[in-house]
Amino acid sequence: MAVQISPSILSADFARLADEAAAVPNADWLHVDVMDNHFVPNLTLGLPIVEALLKATSTPIDCHLMIENPDRWAPGYAEVGAGSVTIHAEAAKSPVRTLRQIRSLGARAGFALNPATPVEPYEDLLGEIDMLLLMTVDPGFGGQPFLDMVLPKVRRARALIERHGGQVWLQVDGGVASDTIERCAEAGADVFVAGSAVYGADDPASAIDRLRALASR
Ligand code: DX5
Ligand code: ZN
Repeated sequence: MAVQISPSILSADFARLADEAAAVPNADWLHVDVMDNHFVPNLTLGLPIVEALLKATSTPIDCHLMIENPDRWAPGYAEVGAGSVTIHAEAAKSPVRTLRQIRSLGARAGFALNPATPVEPYEDLLGEIDMLLLMTVDPGFGGQPFLDMVLPKVRRARALIERHGGQVWLQVDGGVASDTIERCAEAGADVFVAGSAVYGADDPASAIDRLRALASR
């Protein structure tokens, strides 16, 4: 499994996003947390800023939509050129239609589960997605402590993915840092979102190198 690191710009300086993207040339993705103050109790950014970022960086954009009604809004992010668009199970009313739309617009389709949402009911969706995101904190804020209780689900999800051909990437997001990333990798994750562990570091690019080395052990 190839390890991929997706630094979250939620912990970056929002006034200098182009510079912050340039500070992580070794990132596989730039993780962009879209929050609407309804699905989660926080408000961040939306489509116009994603469009601006796409012009400012060649790193592919990994949009994590923590919003109500993703069925209405998610295709727009694929349309403007996000490389990956992830919707939440708890918010989507027509996940199959929406995931198919995301794919037909040329983006990878991601499907996210909160810590308290079980993975088993979604086994039949594995053929419709390119990435499963298992949240390792309740979404809404950066810098929250990693929830070890999610690790058994990461293991079960990895087993389900392997049973279905092993194509789907398994992403973890929340509290992923040098003291937790090895546990996530060992449980079967292969795409790692890290906000404060990257942008809180003096040298974000070296932080990515360190995380990648730990996850690859
Ligand atoms: C939280 C967001 C995360 C956040 C992670 O709801 O989805 O992407 O930026 O931040 P850290 O890595 O600091 O927990
Ligand atoms: Zn996120």
